[in-house]
Amino acid sequence: MDDLGPVDWPPEPIRTERLVLREPGPRDRAAFLELLASPQVHTYLGGPRPRDEIERELAGAPERWPGNFVVDLDGSLIGQVLLRRATGHRRPAAVGKADLGYLFLPRAWGFGYATEACTAALGWLATALPGEPVVLTTQTANVASVRLAAKLGFTEVERFEAWGAEQWLGMWSPTPPSR
Ligand SMILES: CC(C)(COP(=O)(O)OP(=O)(O)OC[C@H]1O[C@@H](n2cnc3c(N)ncnc32)[C@H](O)[C@@H]1OP(=O)(O)O)[C@@H](O)C(=O)NCCC(=O)NCCS
Repeated sequence: MDDLGPVDWPPEPIRTERLVLREPGPRDRAAFLELLASPQVHTYLGGPRPRDEIERELAGAPERWPGNFVVDLDGSLIGQVLLRRATGHRRPAAVGKADLGYLFLPRAWGFGYATEACTAALGWLATALPGEPVVLTTQTANVASVRLAAKLGFTEVERFEAWGAEQWLGMWSPTPPSR
């Protein structure tokens, strides 16, 4: 995965009904550690990683790069939404496209926060890079994630085997402005 490319970054914090999408900062480190070390969060993302390894990676402040949004509820990180460029994707249909990823703390699951935050991030992308389609890859077994993708308007392109599991590749296209 690479950066999205030339976009105006960072944007002003994006406010939704309940959330704020913003750049990461030093105050997010503890919540990032929780997110990256959570076995539950990584069930369909290759399994948990050792906490000391993650702590070493996050030695300084969390990284800032275009498309890396912290999802903030009442001043604290509850999740992360990532928009990157899928330069090395295994499937030709996805290579080089903008790619959406999302991780939320388990205590924030089931409230519609992921839907709200991803909708806002896709809205930002549609303005930052007009007309760009977005791809999303998730394990078919990750029911909550496939469901979220469908709610966001992703439609299935194909299923394929990788990383020891069946993967779902979906694509989203921005709605052209009505005339
Ligand atoms: C994938 C993931 C983000 C989904 O989170 P989620 O909380 O289930 O997602 P949603 O925002 O869609 O919320 C789901 C539920 O909140 C409920 N909800 C409660 N209040 C709501 C509200 N105000 N608005 C909308 N939904 C609401 C709904 O019942 C909804 O369930 P439904 O889809 O059955 O209708 C989460 O499971 C996760 O972080 N998983 C680990 C990381 C991962 O696997 N990422 C995928 C890799 S790409």
